[in-house]
Amino acid sequence: MTDWSRVWDETYAKQPKIYGDEPSAIAVQLADLLRERPSPVRVLDLGCGYGRDSIYFAQQGFEVTALDCSPVAIQMLQERIVNTDLAARITPIVADALQGIPAPDGYFDAVYAYLFFCLAFTDAELTKLFAECSRVLKPDSYLAGTVRSVYDRSYGKGERIEPDMFALPNAVRHFFSESYLEQKLQEAGFSLKSLERRDEAVGESHFNDVLVFVAQKTKHHTN
Ligand SMILES: C[S@@+](CC[C@H](N)C(=O)[O-])C[C@H]1O[C@@H](n2cnc3c(N)ncnc32)[C@H](O)[C@@H]1O
Repeated sequence: MTDWSRVWDETYAKQPKIYGDEPSAIAVQLADLLRERPSPVRVLDLGCGYGRDSIYFAQQGFEVTALDCSPVAIQMLQERIVNTDLAARITPIVADALQGIPAPDGYFDAVYAYLFFCLAFTDAELTKLFAECSRVLKPDSYLAGTVRSVYDRSYGKGERIEPDMFALPNAVRHFFSESYLEQKLQEAGFSLKSLERRDEAVGESHFNDVLVFVAQKTKHHTN
C-alpha cells in the first residue's frame, strides 16, 4: 500500500512553494463568514500542507489546528511561525485524517479543506471523512474548500479504481461531480450554501474546473 505521507514529503522537499504563500480566495471568503462568530473562533485546516491558509486564518485572529500527514510540510509550517505571534494561534499536527481527527465533538467553527477530499480516498473513506468533519464541528458551523472535479483535464487518466477515482504512478485522485459532492455533504448532515466551478491558480499549480464550496452543518452526525 502506498505511504502517502512519504509521497507528499518528497513533493514538498522538491517543490517547497508548490502552492505559493498566498491564501486561497475561498479561505478569505470563509474568514468573512467566521468573523461574525463569537471568539474563540476555531478552524481546522485539513490537509493544510505547509499552512499558507492556516497562517492566513491565524492572522485573522482565529485559533487554527493545522493537520497534515506530511511531517516535512508540518516542519515547514513550524519553521515559518516559530518566534512569531502566530505560534500561539496555530497548533500543527502530523496525523492521518483517516485515523480520525484528534479533537472532541463540536469543537470547531469551521473545517477548511483545500484540494483534500479529492485525494486517494475511496467512496467509503470519504463517507468516513465527511462524518468525522461533521463530528468535530459545532452546529451551524462551516465546511468549506475545494475538490477536483470530473471536468478536470486529468480525469480518466491512469488505472480506474472506483467510479471517478483513478491511479497515476504518483497520485491517486477522486474526482467529484456537483451531485456527488452534494450527496457526500448531505449524508454527513451538511447543506450546501454555495458551489462554484472555476479555474484556480495557486503558486506553481493550476487546476481547471475545481469545485469551490461552502456548506453548513445543519444536522448532528449520526454515528
Ligand atoms: C493538494 S495538497 C493541499 C495542501 C494545502 N491544503 C494547500 O492548499 O496549500 C493535499 C495535502 O493533504 C495531505 N494529506 C494527504 N492525505 C492525507 C491524510 N490521509 N491525512 C492528512 N493529510 C493528508 C498531503 O500531505 C497534502 O499536504
